[in-house]
Amino acid sequence: MKIVVSGASRGLGNALVKNLLSQGDEVFAFARSTENISKLTAQNTNKGKLYFMAFDLMEKDFSPLVKTIKEKLQTIDALVNNAGFLVPKPFIEMTDEDFNRMFDVNVKAPFKLIRELFPLFSKGSHILNISSAGGFQGSVKFPGLSLYSASKGALSILTESLAMEFAKEEIKVNALALGSAQTEMLAQAFPNYKAPLTADEMAEFIAYFTVNGHKFFNGKILPVSLSTP
Ligand SMILES: NC(=O)c1ccc[n+]([C@@H]2O[C@H](COP(=O)([O-])OP(=O)(O)OC[C@H]3O[C@@H](n4cnc5c(N)ncnc54)[C@H](OP(=O)(O)O)[C@@H]3O)[C@@H](O)[C@H]2O)c1
Repeated sequence: MKIVVSGASRGLGNALVKNLLSQGDEVFAFARSTENISKLTAQNTNKGKLYFMAFDLMEKDFSPLVKTIKEKLQTIDALVNNAGFLVPKPFIEMTDEDFNRMFDVNVKAPFKLIRELFPLFSKGSHILNISSAGGFQGSVKFPGLSLYSASKGALSILTESLAMEFAKEEIKVNALALGSAQTEMLAQAFPNYKAPLTADEMAEFIAYFTVNGHKFFNGKILPVSLSTP
């Protein structure tokens, strides 16, 4: 499959790209930093093909990214909106800039990517949004993560909405509401907590779901969590 992954420089995104390459997929990966992405090309377990570039999802103009994806892949079978940004802070200390950065990366960037890449999606393709255990109604919420969880909630509802809107194009849209996996973001949010899953373990499931989930699910926000109910 031809798969685009955002936020591929570390954590879950990097582990996801590694996994997809090992199973023979053609992957376009990006983040602001590319050092760790470029290292994936050297791994001799790769059966797939990797393209990558540096891109900041806070940029106003997505056309350089979209142009390069079009040149390299021509068509897209799956887009994984994995990049995420978190400022853990008590709500009353949150600044307008904190709000903008979280909503720009977690909500506006998936909106712009889906809109700009729409002409490239093949029939039967899969848009997978990486949400959070805090990002759907009725889940356990944590102090300090209010705006982050709200942004992931917005991404979850966008998922449900687009699954309906794109039905005629046969594009499936799902969200995985992830529980904890050990990454830099998790350590920042919960410094003294050890997650039950490594990034590689969680990415193994995300890779499987990217390639197969849309055969079984559409418009779903699926909790993937050992740690919270
Ligand atoms: N780990 C968990 O327990 C957990 C739980 C629930 C949900 N999630 C979600 O899972 C996803 C991956 O999380 P993670 O734990 O792997 O986080 P992470 O280790 O902080 O990695 C985040 C990735 O997003 C990229 N990114 C951030 N801002 C960006 C920007 N402006 N432009 C382009 N790329 C940007 C980062 O790359 P650069 O800094 O190089 O740009 C990095 O590759 C996120 O959406 C997160 O919200 C994670």
